[in-house]
Amino acid sequence: MAAISDDMRLTFRRQGYLVVPGVLDQRQIAFGRRAVRAVLAKWPPADGHSGPHSVFRRFGEEGHPLLDFYRETGVEALAGQLLRRGLGMQDPEHVQVATTIPPWPHRPGGPHVDGLTPTEPDGRPGTFTVLAGVWLTDHTAPDRGNLWMWPRTHLRFGQYLAERGADALTRIDEMAPGPYPRIELGDPVQALGPAGSVLFAHYLLAHNIGNHTGSSADERRETLYYRLLAEGHRKRWREAVADPLAEFS
Ligand SMILES: [Fe+2]
Repeated sequence: MAAISDDMRLTFRRQGYLVVPGVLDQRQIAFGRRAVRAVLAKWPPADGHSGPHSVFRRFGEEGHPLLDFYRETGVEALAGQLLRRGLGMQDPEHVQVATTIPPWPHRPGGPHVDGLTPTEPDGRPGTFTVLAGVWLTDHTAPDRGNLWMWPRTHLRFGQYLAERGADALTRIDEMAPGPYPRIELGDPVQALGPAGSVLFAHYLLAHNIGNHTGSSADERRETLYYRLLAEGHRKRWREAVADPLAEFS
């Protein structure tokens, strides 16, 4: 069973993301890919579509196989190990089945932050604690639909919100298109690792959907994204975004 080491925690705190390889075994990867096929059979991309195609499935009272998958593969346990002592993670409320169908040569011009357009129904920006991306296909080579990320921007975005107040997050007109604030970004990196890895990315980390330079004969990229909130995050979101490491160990 994979575990989060102190070095991994430090990497996450400094870089704003962490790739944990070897979380899923081959049987679990195969199960996940069958689940993706089943979802896409019901909500398929348009004929001839290339590029990103995502389907969101909300978990109801009756549960969902992809919520069971999150627990049984150990992703739940790993995510909890990122949090500070005494703080638990809530169950995810939905899953995003995210695919990138080649060819998709489009390289992102800049990053975004999730959850602002639209907000939650009560107007609260849809902040969360950490994104967990479960990789069902190989991500060892770049330009295969890998997520693009701008390391350390979680800290600079947090500083931006500490200076202006957390509600600056709702003033999209003050941010560059993305939406993302006009802070120093540095150079992006592409998330790399084998199928069965799990990517954890801080909510505030600048990121975007990556290009897939394969041909239409190549494998599409398949990821399951779970957006995770620490217990009490909705009440505490202003503190959490203005002090971006406060929820983490
Ligand atoms: Fe995003």
